[in-house]
Amino acid sequence: MDALREITHIDNVKLGPDERSVVIIDQTKLPNATEYLTLETPKELYDAIFELKVRGAPAIGICAGFGMYVLAQTIDTEDYEIFLTKFTEYKDYLNSSRPTAVNLSWALNRMEQVVKAHGSLPVREIIALLGKECRMIQEEDRKMCRAISEYGLSLIKDGDGILTHCNAGPLATSQYGTALGPLFLGKEQGMNFKVFADETRPLLQGARLTSYELQKAGIDVTLICDNMASLVMKNGWVQACFVGCDRVAANGDAANKIGTSGVAILANYYHIPFYVLGPSSTIDLNCQTGADIEIELRSPEEIKRKFYEKPMALEEVKCYNPAFDVTDHSLISGIITEQGIFRAPYTESFKGLKK
Ligand code: MRU
Repeated sequence: MDALREITHIDNVKLGPDERSVVIIDQTKLPNATEYLTLETPKELYDAIFELKVRGAPAIGICAGFGMYVLAQTIDTEDYEIFLTKFTEYKDYLNSSRPTAVNLSWALNRMEQVVKAHGSLPVREIIALLGKECRMIQEEDRKMCRAISEYGLSLIKDGDGILTHCNAGPLATSQYGTALGPLFLGKEQGMNFKVFADETRPLLQGARLTSYELQKAGIDVTLICDNMASLVMKNGWVQACFVGCDRVAANGDAANKIGTSGVAILANYYHIPFYVLGPSSTIDLNCQTGADIEIELRSPEEIKRKFYEKPMALEEVKCYNPAFDVTDHSLISGIITEQGIFRAPYTESFKGLKK
């Protein structure tokens, strides 16, 4: 396999050989080591998602889908009602691991629907259907990422500078990724881009994952600290911004990794198009605006201590560590999904969305 394909087709989340476990690449160990983790228990699955060992909105949905199939096989009963009760308990537990990315609850609800729609079948047949459903979730994501990559690529040209924030590449999805997908696809077709990857404080997904994926794939990537984006844009080095999303509201407000809204504000100031890329499952029409999106708050330790040899602030210093922010729809030039490119006004254009 060539280096580019090795990245675009990376096996980040899969079922174990006996289908009794989920095997993931531990993203917290990258870029220094490629280590696989085998997840079997509810707690192992919960912790892997909570600790960002598996991360990125589509990837956590896929992992949770596989996880429910694995857990369903451990429910030792032939009785449908007992099975459903235990299944729901596991589902609610995994769903509580991270609140912002809608893909998690979306995938879990799909798995639950399989159980609820087949109450008349023997439990072992329901489990077999769950196996099919979780594979389908991943297969659909592959196709969606490919289509998103094609739509995204239609918006840029050879030689363009692209700025991205966080990581929305193959590690965060199934294949190709969303925000990075057009860049990998363009590379396959012989195009060259100059990518600026924000390091993405505090958990450094841009440094650890995005620059890793792009560098390994042979794409020209330059890592910058988050506070350098303005200068890079002012220099005229950026022709478009591509970012992922964790939940998009009905009016087009889009939640993504903390710092994304700042990038959008800068891009608008410098008249650079700012695109949000994600599967249509990320659009949550139950949220009217971004104000309805729950933002995950994480530990102050991630700011003060993680990745440093010694704490970088006094123990008693307060920290505010929201994991996501919401970019106002007015700053977004287009929302690129597998169903096409949606433009403002989003409340109108989303009426054409097939759900
Ligand atoms: O906290 P993370 O690393 O899971 O946040 C991920 C992001 O914000 C991504 O941009 C988003 O999930 C899209 S991944 C295709």
